[in-house]
Amino acid sequence: MNETWTALLYLVAAVCFIIALKGLSSPKSARRGNVIGAAGALVAVLVVFAHERPDRLVLVLLAIAIGGAIGTVAARRVAMTAMPQMVALFNGVGGAAGALVALLELAEGTGDGDMGGVAHLAVTAFTILIGSITFSGSVLTFAKLQELVTGRPMIFPGMRWVAVAAVAGSLATGIWVTFGGSVVGAVLLAVLTLGLGLLLVLPVGGADVPIVISLLNAFSGITVAASGYVLSNVLLIVAGTLVGASGTLLTKMMADAMGRSLVNIMFGAFAGGSTLGSTAESNRPVRSAGPQDVAILLAYARKVIVAPGYGLAVAQAQHTLRDLADELERRGIEVVYAIHPVAGRMPGHMNVLLAEADVPYEKLKEMVEVNPEFRTTDVALVVGANDVVNPAAHAVPGSPIYGMPILDVEHAESIVFLKRSMRPGFAGIENELLFDPKTTLLFGDAKDSLGKLVAAVKGL
Ligand code: TAP
Repeated sequence: MNETWTALLYLVAAVCFIIALKGLSSPKSARRGNVIGAAGALVAVLVVFAHERPDRLVLVLLAIAIGGAIGTVAARRVAMTAMPQMVALFNGVGGAAGALVALLELAEGTGDGDMGGVAHLAVTAFTILIGSITFSGSVLTFAKLQELVTGRPMIFPGMRWVAVAAVAGSLATGIWVTFGGSVVGAVLLAVLTLGLGLLLVLPVGGADVPIVISLLNAFSGITVAASGYVLSNVLLIVAGTLVGASGTLLTKMMADAMGRSLVNIMFGAFAGGSTLGSTAESNRPVRSAGPQDVAILLAYARKVIVAPGYGLAVAQAQHTLRDLADELERRGIEVVYAIHPVAGRMPGHMNVLLAEADVPYEKLKEMVEVNPEFRTTDVALVVGANDVVNPAAHAVPGSPIYGMPILDVEHAESIVFLKRSMRPGFAGIENELLFDPKTTLLFGDAKDSLGKLVAAVKGL
């Protein structure tokens, strides 16, 4: 394949990536965006190998087939609630690939660029550094979310000094690689920065782990962009920069939505802060009711706002929730969904779930838009949500969620919580709203409870 065709097809792939990102910004066009992005990636991979190493095309196609098969099975099997772990693994693989490419290029000295040039060696060292951090950090976040190790912040005596030594050692070996082109130095750099990745993630715990995944996603993009420089491949630079930039923006948006700063998230545990509270159940009295009573409350309302959360995903109750909304709408009741930016365990979690149940997109309202509406709402129906409706976020300074913007369900005339027990949410803190006189609790698995509510509303 000649240079002109290669450049043109690279351009096509790059444009596909940009259109894909644009598509992913709205649930309506996300599926199309995904397909366009995947097509761009396929074009890119095929062109790279047809252009660079046509002699290895068969081997590459075999590798794509094996990787594609593993990826497809894993993606089909993964539960929606385990998606953050899967993303963590993907980030790790991206980081490892970038670091390995840089190591091999250095060892073989076959880069298209001038491997002897200081700038080139500096980027090689940087790629190994950031790629190794991304790999080990991602593997540890995976283990934390998969509960293979504790999800709490892990710190040991003298950790701060070990981290300082690892940073100093990494910088020294990075300088060695940059000015000496040493392969031994590069391997040492990889080992040190693998340790650094672990040290970076060990102190992070609880609700902060998904934010670190997003940060490592940005790192994996930066690794890919840097490896593009090492290989003199423009497309890798474009794709890596897009991932790096979008990952950075997402990290910032998630941190803002939780009312936290990134520095506090990464280093808060050193100062003794943790966002993972207890799972202890409160035994203070609450008002609970059966499906029949809650059905009456709902069926005679004019307006119901549903506040969905993590429990909706656990129970996979999105379709039953839609059935209930349909039933209420048939009775002339207005039903809308209040979407908190960090409800669930990953960005856009609730949008994805509700889209799966074909809830019309116009009925999904962002937090800022929906909050003023609670004051004129008869019933706020909280389905498997807790932290994102917890008024402690603005009433209790010192609470782990203090400062996090929340859905103002407390302003609705009545509040109904669907949950299984009195256990708190992810942040592990009590929600005063559960004890409010205008709150009713319907205990049980969300899918079960919603099924009973549909039947009860139908029977009224
Ligand atoms: P949570 O505060 O975690 O509350 C989930 C609620 O669902 C709990 O009250 C739980 O109570 C209930 N539940 C669990 N399984 C259930 C089931 N099968 N049926 C019915 N209820 C069930 O969830 P949230 O309000 O969505 O808040 C999200 C939390 O995750 C926040 O702290 C947020 O900061 C954090 N976080 C989110 C993200 C993103 S990007 N979404 C990222 C990082 C952190 P029971 O156990 O009593 O049933």
